[in-house]
This record gives sequence, C-alpha cells and structure tokens, in this order.
Amino acid sequence: ENIHVIGIQMDLGASKRGVNMGPLAIRYAGLMDKLKELGFEALDKGDILSDVAHTENPKMKNFKPIFDANTSLYHQVVASLKENALPVILGGDHCVAAGSISATAQHYGKVGVIWMDAHGDFNSDISSPSGNMHGMPLSALCGYGPDEMIAFTQERTHIDTNNVALVGGRDIDEDERKRLAEAGVHVFSIHDVDRLGMAEVMKRAIAVASEGTAGIHVSFDVDAITPQEAPGVGTPVHSGLTVRESFLAAELVAESGKLLALDMVEVNPILDERNKTGILACELILAFLGKSVY
Ligand code: ARG
Ligand code: MN
Ligand code: MN
Ligand code: MN
Repeated sequence: ENIHVIGIQMDLGASKRGVNMGPLAIRYAGLMDKLKELGFEALDKGDILSDVAHTENPKMKNFKPIFDANTSLYHQVVASLKENALPVILGGDHCVAAGSISATAQHYGKVGVIWMDAHGDFNSDISSPSGNMHGMPLSALCGYGPDEMIAFTQERTHIDTNNVALVGGRDIDEDERKRLAEAGVHVFSIHDVDRLGMAEVMKRAIAVASEGTAGIHVSFDVDAITPQEAPGVGTPVHSGLTVRESFLAAELVAESGKLLALDMVEVNPILDERNKTGILACELILAFLGKSVY
C-alpha cells in the first residue's frame, strides 16, 4: 500500500506558537524509515507552509493565512487520494483538519470521522470563547460553521454527524457541549473510556464511523493523551488517555481495515521534553497503519 506523508507547518489556529514544527519532530522520530520497514511504499510530500499571522476578524483569528494553507492541503490530499495513496497529515494545529477531511469527503463522498481529542473542536466563530480556529474545524466540517473555513469548492460536502465519533473528550466549552448534542455527534468522553474500556469505545466509534460510509478519516490530536505522557501540547488537559489506551485505539482502527486517511496533529516541539510527544506521535501513526506488537 502507498502512504503519502504530508506535513503542514501551521500554528496560527492556536494561541501558543511552535506547533508548526510538529511535522519536523515526527519525521525526526524516524517516520519515513519506519514506514518503509513496515513494508509500505511511503512517499514524503514535504511540508505546506503558512503565511504570516494576520487577523482581520478577532472571532476567527488568522482566518486568511489558515484558509490559504488549508486550500493547499486540500488540493494535495485530493491529489494523493486520486493516486490511491493513504494520506498521513502531520500538523500543525488542529485547524488543518478542515483541509484534510474536506479532501477525503470530496474524494469518497460519504466518510466517517473519529476525532480523538481532549477537546470538541466544535465551536463556531460565534460560540468560540477564544477565536482560535483550532477549536472550530469539526463544527465547520459538519456544516455548523464557520462555513468560510471549508469553502474550498462551490458545493460543500458536509460530514454527517451520524458518522462522527469524538473520543477522549474532557474539556468541552459550555456552548460547545450544547452544539455537539444538538448536532448529534457521538461523544465518547474520557468518562465513557473509564466505564466501558477503550476496546468497547472503539468498537462503537468504528461502528458509528463505518455505517454507510466509504471508510474512516481519523483525526488524532495528541492532547487526547494525558499530559505526563504527551507534554508537547499547547492546550494540555489533565487525566487523559493512557499511552496503552491510545495504542489500543490505533490498533483497533487498523484491524477494522476502514482507515482512509489520518491526521496526527498538535505536536508542539517547543513545549515537549526531548521529543517525547513527537516519538509517541510517530509510533501511533505506525500503529494506526497496522504495526502489530506481536
Ligand atoms: N475549546 C477551546 C477553544 O475553542 C480550546 C480548543 C482546543 N483545540 C485544540 N485543537 N487543541 O478555544
Ligand atoms: Mn483538537
Ligand atoms: Mn485538543
Ligand atoms: Mn446518530
């Protein structure tokens, strides 16, 4: 199978700088060589760059440079999918999922999304408490705004919330919680992971994302993992997924055979400890692609 690794040096969607160096950190952990060791034909497509910070509307900070970089990402991911490759997108903050998932939806029509995150990323420009665009991509993708964020083509292919599972949530804004519920996103919070176990949560999440779809786009925000184990993140939230729970989730997605594309986002090397989070992100990518432990 063909893997296309696509980096995007983007940190304008977050309030802390430096997450634009995420692709470098994950590559430095040996991603390309390790993919080849696994037997994949892996192509490094390099990094998409972003323009400098520029805000016109404080409710959508840096909208223009984010949209421009995401437009490039969208076209690169569509091109990779046309070549029958499985795109692995290295962020960058989570705003990049607006570009990558729009591309998967454009190519396949109906796709499911498993969004692994401490956060919901289901704010609109109106509900957002921060104006940071990495808190908005899932809402935009599902058709709940801001619509400008995904305006890459004339007609929009929205993701049906019946096929969206949020896993690991534990820091959802008040309005955001209502928006998620009204939209019908299937939320498996950290509490559900505790009660049901990760195996059962992923079984349900994969079922949700597979039902009537071509397959699953997984968007993995490393702040889903507990900050002791993944310290290189800009918006840490205490008591998150364990490392093993994260790998189990990845291994179960691989086992499902449904993976169409993968985002690995929010690795911030400036805040990291000797690339601990970058290394973890690299190994998780391998697990999502089927690296078995035994
Ligand atoms: N909910 C907060 C906001 O809208 C935090 C979002 C954090 N998102 C992330 N991708 N780390 O600003
Ligand atoms: Mn996120
Ligand atoms: Mn997050
Ligand atoms: Mn439903």
